[in-house]
Amino acid sequence: MNHAQPKKVLVAVAWPYAQGSLHLGHMAGAYLPSDIFARFRRSVGDDVLMVSGSDIHGTPITVKADDLGWTPQELVDKYHPEFLTYWKDLDIDWDLFTSTGTDTHKAVVQDFFLTLLENGHLYRDTSEQYFDETAERFLPDRYVEGTCPHCGYVDARGDQCDNCGRTLDPVDLINPRSKLSGATPVMRETEHFYWKLSAFNEPMAEWLSSLKGWRRHVVNFAVGMVDDGLHDRAFTRDLTWGVPLPVDDLGDGKSIYVWWEALMGYVSAAQEWSQIQGRPDAWKQWWHDPDAETYYFIGKDNIPFHAVYWPALIMGHGGLNLPTDVPANQYVTFGGQKASKSRGVGRPLGWYLDRFESDALRYALARSFPESNDTDLTDVEIARRINEELVATWGNLVNRVVSMTNRYFDGVVPEPGPLTDADQVILAGRGETLNDVSDLIYSVKLRSGIARAMEGASEANAYLSDMVPWSTAKTDMERTGTTLWVALQLIASNAIALWPYLPDTSSRVLSALGAPEFDRAPEWESPDVISGTKLADLGPLFAKVDLDTLT
Ligand code: MF3
Ligand code: ZN
Repeated sequence: MNHAQPKKVLVAVAWPYAQGSLHLGHMAGAYLPSDIFARFRRSVGDDVLMVSGSDIHGTPITVKADDLGWTPQELVDKYHPEFLTYWKDLDIDWDLFTSTGTDTHKAVVQDFFLTLLENGHLYRDTSEQYFDETAERFLPDRYVEGTCPHCGYVDARGDQCDNCGRTLDPVDLINPRSKLSGATPVMRETEHFYWKLSAFNEPMAEWLSSLKGWRRHVVNFAVGMVDDGLHDRAFTRDLTWGVPLPVDDLGDGKSIYVWWEALMGYVSAAQEWSQIQGRPDAWKQWWHDPDAETYYFIGKDNIPFHAVYWPALIMGHGGLNLPTDVPANQYVTFGGQKASKSRGVGRPLGWYLDRFESDALRYALARSFPESNDTDLTDVEIARRINEELVATWGNLVNRVVSMTNRYFDGVVPEPGPLTDADQVILAGRGETLNDVSDLIYSVKLRSGIARAMEGASEANAYLSDMVPWSTAKTDMERTGTTLWVALQLIASNAIALWPYLPDTSSRVLSALGAPEFDRAPEWESPDVISGTKLADLGPLFAKVDLDTLT
């Protein structure tokens, strides 16, 4: 079930803009899936590097800071630490969560720029851009809003339309208005570096047609973009809040476009991690070694950037690995509306973290991951999944078996008697569960993976109902001991299958049963629960959610 050879696996996760709190949509969209996948790959022995960081530059930050009357840095200083608390609260186990504000990032981005320039992918040109005459400033990206030329959405931003997901340029917008003054902007000439993206139509089409096993909606979006034709794009902006150009040709007041720069963060974060490890070249094993795998966990609004622009940048740079997969998720909606930090739909994450245990929330979200369609979620549905599935099936199984072991065997794992066919069949099923879950997680079908792991728990419950250890305890202690011994093996194995999803409670179960200790990830195989082991006190695994606390 394990790979013959451990693989280098880069788990690259969308860098959140440090401009607002994150919500459940972000967790279900990118952060939780990446953590589950990374934990699993560590568990099968792969060498995982999971990185991301705060995206701190560009107009997403400056527009919000302007609104609040703050400096961009003040905004970053509020949200970057807040993000760190989420990771801790939800057990998201990064190798590195950094930011695009580091010296390493700046150096990597400037170097990347120079390589593209050297390879002939960048050129200088003047063009007309929107300018606000009242504010006396150019209006890049989010400083302009207007109507999307593709779908007619009236509140499209200058960089991207929230409705159809297409990337935009402010000059594309119909009825443009300045975010600074509300006025209609005028055109003014300015000089920039441009990226000869048009040269990548063919290589991108070819690469996209070679992909296997990618999610339909991701491939379709990317292929659609390339079919429409890739055009040259500005590489720089009239904005000082960003990574400055490594060449002074254009004078002051310019920086590299935040998206191109942030994407390069996947390289700079790997390098920063290497430096921290004291092995400054280690990152190359994930970026240069063609056997390494790279998975990008993102929400669907990021598909153009990760499935088209970033691969094209990688091709332009040369020598770096193209994505193995971009398992983008669709949206989680709350009562039919897309949760969005900029639009205030859905509750803040902190609200949930105050009311739910991390694993319980992880469970409910994983069961609803929007892997192929937008998925609606309500607080009542989250509570139902926790109470009726997690507590009723898995929590209850562990609870019953541990309490019977306490009651009938003083909390010591009994010695099994002869095993019946039924015992042997269910014990053999452990490997099947682990195999199935493993196949599903390898192919990033995480929602089916947790469903399959829960089937394992249901099968164990059915076994207990058949074996009725609470009745046999009155007449046949040896049989009761065998049943409980088998059930404890099933629980330990199921805790492994659930571990990527429910790391906190699964670790507690494994350690209470005396399974082998592990550092960062348990081995992906059924552990032996040894007769004679005294079970450690476990307590109830999950609390039932009281619906009244959710209003
Ligand atoms: N900050 C972007 C967003 O929230 C994601 C950036 S991903 C990166 O949509 F790779 F570009 F960093
Ligand atoms: Zn649109």
